[in-house]
Amino acid sequence: MDNVPAMQTDDNTQRTDQQLRDDMVQQLIELGALRSSHVVAAFRKVPRHLATPDEDVATTYDVERALITKTDAEGIQISSVSAPRIQAMQIEQAELGPGMRVLEIGSGGVNAAYLAEIVGRDGMVVTVDIDPDVTERAAAFLPKAGYDSVQVVTTDGENGVPEHAPYDRVIVTVQAADIPPAWREQLKDGGRLVVPLRMRGMTRTVAFVRDGDRLVSDGFELCGFVPMQGVGENRVRLALLHEAEGEEVGLRLDGHPEPDTDVLRAALLSPSVRSWSGVTLAANESNEHLDLWLTTALDNLPLLTAQPGARERGIVASVSPHGIPALVEAGSFAYRTVRPTWDPDRFELGAVGHGPRDREVAERLVEEIRTWDREHRSHRAFIEVFPAGTPDDRLPAGRVIDRRHTRVTITWP
Ligand SMILES: C[S@@+](CC[C@H](N)C(=O)[O-])C[C@H]1O[C@@H](n2cnc3c(N)ncnc32)[C@H](O)[C@@H]1O
Repeated sequence: MDNVPAMQTDDNTQRTDQQLRDDMVQQLIELGALRSSHVVAAFRKVPRHLATPDEDVATTYDVERALITKTDAEGIQISSVSAPRIQAMQIEQAELGPGMRVLEIGSGGVNAAYLAEIVGRDGMVVTVDIDPDVTERAAAFLPKAGYDSVQVVTTDGENGVPEHAPYDRVIVTVQAADIPPAWREQLKDGGRLVVPLRMRGMTRTVAFVRDGDRLVSDGFELCGFVPMQGVGENRVRLALLHEAEGEEVGLRLDGHPEPDTDVLRAALLSPSVRSWSGVTLAANESNEHLDLWLTTALDNLPLLTAQPGARERGIVASVSPHGIPALVEAGSFAYRTVRPTWDPDRFELGAVGHGPRDREVAERLVEEIRTWDREHRSHRAFIEVFPAGTPDDRLPAGRVIDRRHTRVTITWP
C-alpha cells in the first residue's frame, strides 16, 4: 500500500489518512449508515483516497460526497465514486459475510475493495463496468490498496458474469429501471440482490431476496445513482414547463402519459391555489415513504423538478434533487409542498395547484396525503419483482410497473 504523508487541513492540523477514515467511520455510525462490525472494520481499513489521486484527500473521505468521474455529451453524470454513506448503506443492505461470492455491477474499485475486505480470502468479488476507463482505474487501484484477487471485467452488466456464477450477493451500483434475468438467475436461491431500482421516477436502493423466479423486498433506502447505459438503458424524459436559464422547471416522465406541455406551461405561470392536509412531518422526517404511497395510489404522478432559481423567483414553492410528486389531470396539476407550523420542528404537508382545475387536483393530492397518514404511515411498502408475462391474477393487489423483463409491484400492508 502507498505510504501517504500527513495532510494539511483547513484548521491547520495534520491529519493522516487513517484519522480521516476514523472520522468518516464515526460519522457513518452516527448517521446509522454503518451498523455491523465487519463493515465498520472494512471502512476503517480501505484507503479510498488512492482511487482518486487527483482529488483533495480530505474530500475523498467526505461521507456525503460522490466524486463525479465522467459526464456525457448532454451533461448527465454517468460515472462516479459513490459517496461513503451510500456505499455503507448498500453494503449493510447486502448482509455480507466471510466466504461469500459477490458480483458488483458498476465499478470504480472502492466499493469492490470494501466487498473484498468483508468476504475475505475465502470469498470472491467480481466487479464489472461497461466503461473501459472505469475498469482500468479500478484495476490500477485494487492491487495498490491490497485487493489483487478482485476480478475486474469490462462488459455490459445486463448479462451478469456467468463464468463466476452462482453468487451469494449481487450488488448493483447504477440506477436500473428493470431487472434483467441474469441478475436473478446468477443469484443463489435465498441470495440477496441490492439494486437502486427506479419505480415511476422514484429510485430506492432495494434489498431483494430471491425466491425462485420472484424477488421479494427486505427493506429499501432513498438514494440517487447515475443511470444505466448499454442494452438496459432506459432514462427518464424531461418535459420542460419553463425554460429560463437557472429557472428550469420540468416533469420527469417514467412511463407516464405524455403531458400537453403547452397547456401545463400556461398553467404554471397562472396564479396557483394551495390546499392543506393537517398532516405534519418532523423537520428531519423524510418524504420517501409518503411519495411511494402517492405513486402507488395515483395514476399520473410524474416528478416535478426545478432549478433553485425557479423557487427564488416564486415560479415553484418547493424544489428537491429527488423531484416532487406532481399529480397531472388534463390541463391542471398539483404538487406536494409544506408550510411551517407553530412548532418550529414540524411542517404541514399540502399541495400547490395550477390550471383550470387547480383546487380539485390539489384536493385530490391532499386526500392521498391524509390516507397515507391514517392508514400507511406506520408501515413500509413491500416491493416484489415477477418475470414479465406473469398473469395479473398471480400478482398482489397494488401498483404494477411493467418493464421489459419484469413486473414490479408495490403493495402496502
Ligand atoms: C456510481 S458508478 C459506480 C460506483 C462504484 N461501484 C464505486 O466503487 O463507487 C456507476 C457505474 O456504472 C457503470 N455502468 C453503467 N451502465 C452499466 C452497465 N450496463 N453495465 C456495467 N456498468 C455500467 C458506469 O460506467 C459507472 O461507472
